Amino acid sequence: MKTFFYGIIFTVFVIFAAGFLFIKRGYIGIEADQQPSAFEKKIAMSAVDASVDRHAPDRKNSVQPTDENLVEGAKIYLNHCAGCHGLPSNPDTQFGHSFNPPVPQFFKETPDMPDNQNFYITQHGIRFTGMPAWSKTLSEQQIWTVVAFLSRIEKLPPGALKVLEPPAPPPGVVAAPPIR
Ligand code: HEC
Repeated sequence: MKTFFYGIIFTVFVIFAAGFLFIKRGYIGIEADQQPSAFEKKIAMSAVDASVDRHAPDRKNSVQPTDENLVEGAKIYLNHCAGCHGLPSNPDTQFGHSFNPPVPQFFKETPDMPDNQNFYITQHGIRFTGMPAWSKTLSEQQIWTVVAFLSRIEKLPPGALKVLEPPAPPPGVVAAPPIR
């Protein structure tokens, strides 16, 4: 009985050691332009969802979605997020598809998570993806403001849309190239 028990422990140890060496010796590809295995994708995505569920603060957004606040949110979005997450005129950026996992394109797939989860992700980022933590760059108030903007992204007032898509400059004036 004792030998059988040690046999099990030994087998488990060998399996873990083999898995550890397989990863450590570089047998798993890390290229962002290669698809991960279905297993890696499934386990990583459900781990992220579960972690956000567990850690997002149980708070309501005190920034009301007034036209004025949505204009402010649009400015923050344009300056910090649009290059990766897209714009109405460029809702499916090639750049966003160059990441793995790809960057969710917010003007194509509306962000549907509750405000407290969007706040948590924006504040802390997501490790091992391209999503940065904004806590060092934006104040809490600015993060709640951009989150209010995200929650209304399908029905933005004209003022906020104008921030995202400024009118073409008069002839002869060279516009700054858009972020693509
Ligand atoms: C350098 C590229 C990049 C920038 C800039 C960026 N993000 Fe992200 N973001 C990502 C990536 C990549 C993901 C997907 C991570 C994943 O799949 O786990 C993501 C995911 C998110 C999510 C989760 C969406 C979902 O449905 O799962 C939110 C919310 C978000 N970003 C908000 C923002 C906000 C707000 C800004 C600007 C303040 C911003 N991001 C700037 C790359 C970026």
